[in-house]
Amino acid sequence: MSRFRRLRVLSAPGLGALALAALVSTASAENAADEFAVGKAEYLTACAACHGDAADGKGPIAGMFRTPVPDLTGLAVRNEGRFPFLTVVQIIDGRSVVRAHGDPMPVFGGRFRAEAEDRGALYGSEAIARARVLEMVLYLESIQD
Ligand code: HEC
Repeated sequence: MSRFRRLRVLSAPGLGALALAALVSTASAENAADEFAVGKAEYLTACAACHGDAADGKGPIAGMFRTPVPDLTGLAVRNEGRFPFLTVVQIIDGRSVVRAHGDPMPVFGGRFRAEAEDRGALYGSEAIARARVLEMVLYLESIQD
C-alpha cells in the first residue's frame, strides 16, 4: 500500500515534468520565431532613420548625408559571403574604429553606455552597451541576403 502511494507521489512530479517539457518546447518554438526581436527593435529605433526599416540603405533621412548610407542586408555578400561579425560590432560601437571625418553615424557604444549610467547602472553600463550592440548585430546577421 505504502508502495503504491509512493509510486503515485513519484508519478506526480513525472507528469509535472512532462507538462513542463511541453511548456518549454512551446516557449522555445515561440522564442525561435522571436529570436531577434530585441535586436530588431533596437535597430528600428537607432538605425532605421538612415539605413531604412528594411536595412536597405533607404531610410527617410538617408538623402541628407554626403556619404551614401549602405544597404546592411548586403554586408555578407560584400565580404565574400561571410558576415563580418566583429567588424560590424566595432562599426556600430564606434569607440575603437577610426571613423572617416564627417561620418554621420553616432558612436553608439558611448551613447548606450551614457544612457545606462543615466538610468543608474553603476556597474553594468559597459555590459549593457555591449549587449545592445550585440543584439543588433545578431539581428543584422539574420537578415543578410
Ligand atoms: C545618421 C545616419 C545613420 C545612423 C543613425 C546609423 N548609420 Fe550606419 N552608416 C551611416 C552612413 C552614412 C554610413 C557609411 C559611412 C561611411 O561610408 O563612412 C554607415 C555605415 C554603417 C555600416 C558599415 C557598412 C559597410 O558596408 O561598410 C554599418 C554596419 C552600419 N552603418 C550599421 C548601423 C547600425 C546598426 C546603426 C544603428 C545602431 C546605424 N548604422 C545607424 C549612417 C547612419
